Amino acid sequence: MAEVGVPAVVGELRLARLVVVGLGLIGGSFAKGLRDRGQCGEVIGVDLDAESCRRAVELGVVDRCEEDLAAACAGATLIVLAVPILAMEKLLQQLGKLDLGQAVLTDVGSAKGSILRAAERCLPQYLGQFVPGHPIAGSEQSGVEACDGNLFRHHRVILTPGAATDAAALALVGQAWRTLGANVEQMDIEHHDEVLAATSHLPHLLAFGLVDSLAKRSENLEIFRYAAGGFRDFTRIAGSDPLMWHDIFLANRQAVLRVLDDFRSDLDALRNAVDAQDGLHLLGVFTRARVAREHFSTILAQRAYVGTMHSTDLIYLANPGGSLSGRIRVPGDKSISHRSIMLGSLAEGVTEVEGFLEGEDALATLQAFRDMGVVIEGPQHGRVTIHGVGLHGLKPPPGPLYLGNSGTSMRLLSGLLAGQAFDTTLTGDASLSKRPMNRVAKPLRQMGALIETAADGRPPLLIHGGRRLGGMTYEMPVASAQVKSCLLLAGLYAAGSTTVIEPAPTRDHTERMLRGFGYPVTSEGKSATVESGHKLTATRIEVPADISSAAFFLVAASIAPGSDLVLEHVGINPTRTGVIDILRLMGADLTLENQREVGGEPVADIRVRAAQLKGIDIPEDLVPLAIDEFPVLFIAAACAEGRTVLRGAEELRVKESDRIQVMADGLLALGVKVEPTPDGIIIDGGAYGGGEVNSHGDHRIAMAFSVASLRASAPIRIHDCANVATSFPNFLGLAGQVGIRVDEEARA
Ligand code: S3P
Repeated sequence: MAEVGVPAVVGELRLARLVVVGLGLIGGSFAKGLRDRGQCGEVIGVDLDAESCRRAVELGVVDRCEEDLAAACAGATLIVLAVPILAMEKLLQQLGKLDLGQAVLTDVGSAKGSILRAAERCLPQYLGQFVPGHPIAGSEQSGVEACDGNLFRHHRVILTPGAATDAAALALVGQAWRTLGANVEQMDIEHHDEVLAATSHLPHLLAFGLVDSLAKRSENLEIFRYAAGGFRDFTRIAGSDPLMWHDIFLANRQAVLRVLDDFRSDLDALRNAVDAQDGLHLLGVFTRARVAREHFSTILAQRAYVGTMHSTDLIYLANPGGSLSGRIRVPGDKSISHRSIMLGSLAEGVTEVEGFLEGEDALATLQAFRDMGVVIEGPQHGRVTIHGVGLHGLKPPPGPLYLGNSGTSMRLLSGLLAGQAFDTTLTGDASLSKRPMNRVAKPLRQMGALIETAADGRPPLLIHGGRRLGGMTYEMPVASAQVKSCLLLAGLYAAGSTTVIEPAPTRDHTERMLRGFGYPVTSEGKSATVESGHKLTATRIEVPADISSAAFFLVAASIAPGSDLVLEHVGINPTRTGVIDILRLMGADLTLENQREVGGEPVADIRVRAAQLKGIDIPEDLVPLAIDEFPVLFIAAACAEGRTVLRGAEELRVKESDRIQVMADGLLALGVKVEPTPDGIIIDGGAYGGGEVNSHGDHRIAMAFSVASLRASAPIRIHDCANVATSFPNFLGLAGQVGIRVDEEARA
């Protein structure tokens, strides 16, 4: 949809004369809304029904009514056509014979193509002044009595100007709707009719049809007595105005037929699945539908929220002081959760996952595989069941795969998708759209992949399928587990063997998990090799708690005097434990208890007690092993005695934000002595205050400054925290449980 694009009129809307033809719910509400807001010199109503006219005046919907259309329209500034769609042609014919001067015309019909065609036939001389429009608002009530001057507040109004519509007319109509509190958008006329056929017209047809079908069978009359909420919800719209809907279906016939035919074939497939007892098909439809519905509810909720509160900035207010105690388990490992979905989907058989991270990033990966036809149940309390389709069983997704904030999803998927038979497009949010993808696109191209990127190798990525990939040996210029994993996944589809050599060890979850699925991987020193031709066999995966999430509490309990905290079941894969090594070098008191191995990954409970930290030169070889933990390690450095120096960490500049700059800005705002360098940072520890910091939508920075409050002398307000949900759902809940006092501030 072309968003908004409707120019605004400068200054206040003033209409000398507004004429509304058709005083039903929509026309009457428009008239009343502008009249109540004092935006019109005069509001005149026209309606064939004399009683409606009388009531409209009585209820203050219009100033007066005119029986004669010509008299009403003489000298009009804006004429709104709000008659039933099938009555529109006749009205347009009448208007075409009148002298309308400079009056702007608009309508409110739900199907636009037929109205524009009628306008072209009936009033060609006024086409420039005609702005077809459609308010997406209404109610089951109709008639002038139901008019409501606020009916359109926070509702969308779609304007569908034709080629001839002039800009001033479009601006005037847009401004009138905005005055009523509507959100005005512009759309191409055919697209409008297709979209509305699917999202509005088809559901109405089904609701009317279902209720009638059940009601007309006498044996079914009983069911209405026993019908519960589900039936009521599904059939609510069958109470809508029959004549209006009769008109809409006849007016938007072609588009409705197209969506109806598609739906019929899907319905047939469902019928066949029930008949054949094909539970997998049913589960596939229901799980996909449920997520789509949840997604839709979130969009609706956000719309209502934004509408009333005018902002989406989520602010954390972190109160100073406190100490930590207790035992907690932080959510599941993000890297392992992503990989469990990917490999589970490509495996043969059913994979059960426990401890899955229900954060937005891992959910983006899950949804991507659902979009590619994999049936995935859950997640529910961290449990996910994946009905694997085998290495060659993915299906083309219906549209671009949206990966939100998740760089891991995009980079790993690009390798896996380069080997598929179909094309895919990968997109993401504003932060992901700025991140470098050439690091995967370039080596994949060397393997024979065809990948297009936006300028400078940024997303979106268009990955062409049907390519024959060839294995290769690749020496990675940066130590990146995402690049390594991407190429190993492409290697599953490449002729021969694929070897990746890393400059320094990075997390090896892909290699471990491939082996867990029975796929051979050879690791020798700094290299890992796969060859194609093997298969993945479904397995059980237990995802340990994420050490990257635990890190916030490792630092928090270290810096808050008197703390004693246990973090349970944390993954301590040696390629991830840089944070433990660095904190120990700084003097932290950490003990690993109950060490064990689950599903190929080592885990332990980690006990942390407060300790006086000291500044250090962070050994460069630990950088890749603690790559995600630096934001919170900088907080540890700010609380340490003396100077901490980090070098060789330029990668931090291309994470979810430029973590060196954004952390330096925040620390400076709190009064910490800090100096960013091109590849690291220098921090002098000491006392610091409170203040305003901005996380720039980076989850780990938002959480790091929450931890900083434990040693701040005044509250810290942290802006742009919504993305904490990408990796750590319920961060505030768990933080509060152990003694970090951070609240969500009401959105300003
Ligand atoms: C990840 C690898 C790292 C890390 C990211 C997760 C992974 O990225 O920062 O959060 O799951 O493979 P790089 O490979 O870019 O260092």
